[in-house]
Amino acid sequence: MGAIRDILRTMDYGPSPEGAEHVRAWLDERAAGFGHFINGAFTKPRDLFDVFNPATGERIARVTQGSTPDIDAAVAAARKAQAKWAALSGFERSKHLYALARHVQKRERFLSVLETIDNGKPIRESRDIDIPLVARHFYHHAGWAMLIEQEFPGTKPVGVCGQIIPWNFPLLMLAWKIAPALAAGNTVVLKPAEYTPLTALAFAAICNEAGLPAGVVNIVTGDGATGAAIVAHSGVDKIAFTGSTEVGRAIRKATAGTGKKLSLELGGKSPFVVFEDADLDSAVEGAVDAIWFNQGQVCCAGSRLLVAESVAEALYAKLRARMAKLRLGDPLDKSTDVGAIVAPAQLERINGLMREGEKEGLEFFRADEALPARGCFYPPTLVTGVEPASILAREEIFGPVLVAATFRTPDEAVALANNTRYGLAASVWTENVNRALEVAARIKAGVVWINSTNLFDAASGFGGYRESGFGREGGREGLNEYRVADEAKAKPKPGRPPRLNAAPGLPPAPGPAGGDLDRTAKLFIGGKQARPDSGYSYAVLDPAGREIGLAGLGNRKDIRDAVEAAAKAGSWGAATAHNRAQVLYYVAENLSARADEFARRLRVMTGASARAAEAEVEAAIRRAFVYAGYADKYDGAVHATRSRFVTLAMNEPWGVMGVVCPDEAPLLAFVSLVMPAIAMGNSVVAVPSASHPLSATDFYSVLETSDVPPSVVNIVTGEAKALVRTLAEHDGVDALWYVGDAESAKQVEALSAGNLKATWVSGSAVDWRQAEGREFLRRATQVKNIWTPYGE
Ligand code: NAI
Repeated sequence: MGAIRDILRTMDYGPSPEGAEHVRAWLDERAAGFGHFINGAFTKPRDLFDVFNPATGERIARVTQGSTPDIDAAVAAARKAQAKWAALSGFERSKHLYALARHVQKRERFLSVLETIDNGKPIRESRDIDIPLVARHFYHHAGWAMLIEQEFPGTKPVGVCGQIIPWNFPLLMLAWKIAPALAAGNTVVLKPAEYTPLTALAFAAICNEAGLPAGVVNIVTGDGATGAAIVAHSGVDKIAFTGSTEVGRAIRKATAGTGKKLSLELGGKSPFVVFEDADLDSAVEGAVDAIWFNQGQVCCAGSRLLVAESVAEALYAKLRARMAKLRLGDPLDKSTDVGAIVAPAQLERINGLMREGEKEGLEFFRADEALPARGCFYPPTLVTGVEPASILAREEIFGPVLVAATFRTPDEAVALANNTRYGLAASVWTENVNRALEVAARIKAGVVWINSTNLFDAASGFGGYRESGFGREGGREGLNEYRVADEAKAKPKPGRPPRLNAAPGLPPAPGPAGGDLDRTAKLFIGGKQARPDSGYSYAVLDPAGREIGLAGLGNRKDIRDAVEAAAKAGSWGAATAHNRAQVLYYVAENLSARADEFARRLRVMTGASARAAEAEVEAAIRRAFVYAGYADKYDGAVHATRSRFVTLAMNEPWGVMGVVCPDEAPLLAFVSLVMPAIAMGNSVVAVPSASHPLSATDFYSVLETSDVPPSVVNIVTGEAKALVRTLAEHDGVDALWYVGDAESAKQVEALSAGNLKATWVSGSAVDWRQAEGREFLRRATQVKNIWTPYGE
């Protein structure tokens, strides 16, 4: 170090390393290798693989590659512990979570240093962000453990949860997974990423130290194969995954039809939108936090800078100046801003994408600071003039690379922001509050930060739209992922269920309908009755096998037309909830006015008794009224997160929903599924019961006379099994509900992996008298959290 006089002259940083001796000693003691943590004890290390410090390339530990017998043992331990854990009082479970929080807090320095050595992130970040948030997560969920029974009535824990996490926030992702699972009464088998398993293993030791009962938390280390074995294990009731969209898709397919609950938090290509009236200096600091935080290895990194053309050059100049001041180097140095990339394979991935970008002739800027001689480093980079079609604008780079493009109008900004298959997060910079909130509402993303970025808190939900996955982590929203309906607690309603005949399969088609088509109930697409594309119809039979009418035999093309029409009903989602409620009341009233006619139809079609048919119609009318009532009462929330932020949780419609109805209760099931979906502002493509479609086709006229705007409800009759395939595969469908047979339910889940649409399936009979309430509204919406700052 130079003399004080020299330092004052140059104002250069001196070295400021965080001490790491205690962590190195801890690792040295375990140089023989780490085993898994199963049933409260570490297994004998074997089948070891190396773990490296990415900043130096040195090997720091060896850990066990998990095998199928290891997963069997971990799942068995979790299963054995689960009933007892769930049977503890909320207060007891709460004390355990609180103890974990305390112990994490006591070891903050140790965990921060270990995280930095293992992952390469700057110590400032692990010390000031990651580990404090870990403690916060356990404290927050200690509270939920107390409250879970009263706040989530009628539900129970899911059971054994398999949790697979990535390497970018190793201990924080562990906390996001384990804290809510435990609070909700589940036990877990968690697999950390192969690059960064060490803080999870340290946490395992903390579980013992804090007196957590054996088997409640099990940690198995290993690579993707170990993860796949957890996903495939029949003893696991739920999978929670954070990682790449590609693996998320594979997991969606692997869990299809297994009944496993699934939440996926996947990749992103999040827009960072700067309007001309933004405070540019703040926006520059925001960009530093958005894309250079954790070397850009952040799923919600603001990696696409969209800037108003009029201020673009000024912003770029400020960014370049700021980039020249970022300090890259030893992550353990307290004045390092940019640390190491997690592993050579990731560095190569970044380099590969950048080579592609270079071929496109894009303009790159990098501060010319020399990279350290060893270790995995990539310099902060700004790429300007990027077209939306460029690979760098489309692909998640997962590195410290900001790609910039300009816009002229707010509409163009929103269009560019939404021009991605992802939808994890967005950041909006403007001094105009009206514009900020309008743009926040229009961007399709699970989290929107206004004049801020990369803020997280245990009380707020986090998770994506579109191919960024589904499900939320954090707060009340996140807990839904760890509870399921408790049938034992559901109170049966008095009275007998409507007796219905469900004739499986379709009667033979009579061939091209020709002149007979007039007798055929047509399809209903875009507010108009439409002939099926095939020109064919099929006979609708009564229980005695007599033909009572014909229904259109819809095909792929009809479903596509219906989806296209439904996509045009966007203004329905933007209508006020009051307006939607009025329309739904009108539907209920009009159905009520024609109750006799609908009851007669049910009797003839299903062979139900007069009493049963009337009861079904009555229940359907009541249900329509219920959702009219709910339309303006399924409120969002304001989460208590950070000071000086209002974190608004808004329930937004999915957009286009597919709804495939079962054969039982053909009118009541149809109304029970379609009404909550449209009450929340979705447009719907509904496939009614194939055997008993006429209640739904009679319903057209109710829709037409009730001011339901054209395209909000589209109905395609035909072979449900075939039609649901098209809906499941269709990228224009945002969410899909299916009630029918188990085989098709499995297919729906597997085929939905294309655009990762949210699915809700039941392969077994539903008691339609009970099928009502907030769960339907929750499933008809996705939550967007908007972080709005206040104060100067
Ligand atoms: P990855 O998705 O392969 O790894 C994440 C976790 O999944 C790890 O624990 C891994 O062992 C496990 N895994 C891998 N294959 C699996 C399988 N078939 N079944 C079950 N678990 C499996 O991500 P990777 O390869 O480390 O990174 C590749 C890219 O993925 C990154 O460049 C980035 O674009 C993205 N990514 C996104 C993350 C996010 O937070 N959204 C986190 C990590 C990576």
